[in-house]
Amino acid sequence: MSAPESRFVKACRALPVDRTPVWFMRQAGRYMPEYRAVRKQYSLIEICKRPAVAAEVTITAAEALGVDAAIIFADLLLPLEVMGLPFHFSPGEGPVIEKPVRDQADVSRLRTDRAGDLGYVSEAVRMVCKHFGPRLPVIGFCGAPFTLASYMSEGGSSRNYVNTKKMMYSSPAAWDELLGKLVTVVSQYAAEQVRAGADVIQVFDSWVGCLSVDDYRRYVVPRATELVKALQKAGAPIIYFGTDSATLLSSRKETGAEVIGLDWRIPLDQGWKAVGVGAVQGNLDPVLLFAGWKEIEKNAREILRRADGRPGHVFNLGHGILPETPVENVRALARFVQEY
Ligand code: CP3
Repeated sequence: MSAPESRFVKACRALPVDRTPVWFMRQAGRYMPEYRAVRKQYSLIEICKRPAVAAEVTITAAEALGVDAAIIFADLLLPLEVMGLPFHFSPGEGPVIEKPVRDQADVSRLRTDRAGDLGYVSEAVRMVCKHFGPRLPVIGFCGAPFTLASYMSEGGSSRNYVNTKKMMYSSPAAWDELLGKLVTVVSQYAAEQVRAGADVIQVFDSWVGCLSVDDYRRYVVPRATELVKALQKAGAPIIYFGTDSATLLSSRKETGAEVIGLDWRIPLDQGWKAVGVGAVQGNLDPVLLFAGWKEIEKNAREILRRADGRPGHVFNLGHGILPETPVENVRALARFVQEY
């Protein structure tokens, strides 16, 4: 841990703070001219694999926005490569996994012994922690078993998750082995980020909202809980993020994560009530950042009003910043939350 006394880490632990901390998912990304300049020189994966460049991108975004935490620049899918599944980003299509995982034989082939090859990410974490010291906390992150498994079996982004659910329903043993292998690799990978100085780990379960409550509890919660527990043992509080999952909130809390990420589809106080105890993060609609300042301010104020100064609110969007978002709106939003 590099900034255990920061207001962000305290808020994650639902302790009282002087003001609401704020940061943004995808705060380093294509909407930012400094990032686009680096992308002229390097591909996304090249940035991830060069710790000095990844650290620079992380630091530049956090400093340009004046936010209360820096999230390490990496990608959710990096662990797929060390498990034996190469992928690339295709323009307009997003990530493409070359040989998707569809059956027991594909699951059996996946490797779990090379998490160490992802050391470039923890090296970048180390550099960012060294730069900020106790001044600014650093967030490490990883994918949750379900969301990573969905990319592995769909071969990329998906609308209906047919291949994923097909394996889940018709080969439950293969499904559970897949999630178990993901927990083995990802828990080592994220624990290494904690050892390198990350203060908090955000676990992205972006697409769990496609599941019913029963399926989520039966096929996903046990392995997600295993991951959360392993990372807590490494010493970091966990933010468990998901979208479109208002019906899953109380089950998501069963994983034991300190902070539950809320998207904009549910009012913050209602979402918080459904979660029960602990902290929440969210939840402005990222598309609001394309509106005029008056509209943004009104909605941000409403979120803060609903949080009502209770300990344990981290301000964020309900999902990542979109390309083309006006940077000045993001900066103004951070300032507004900090001055509220
Ligand atoms: O938040 C941050 O600033 C840290 C960086 C970060 C990236 N990806 C860099 C990135 C984080 C936290 C991620 C997580 C990630 N990656 C998720 C989970 C987050 C979520 O949206 O719920 C997922 C699903 C991925 C996989 C992925 N990577 C997708 C679907 C895409 C979009 C593909 C496309 O063509 O736009 C990416 C690309 C990606 N990862 C970008 C960034 C900044 C886009 C910019 C670029 O191509 O340079």
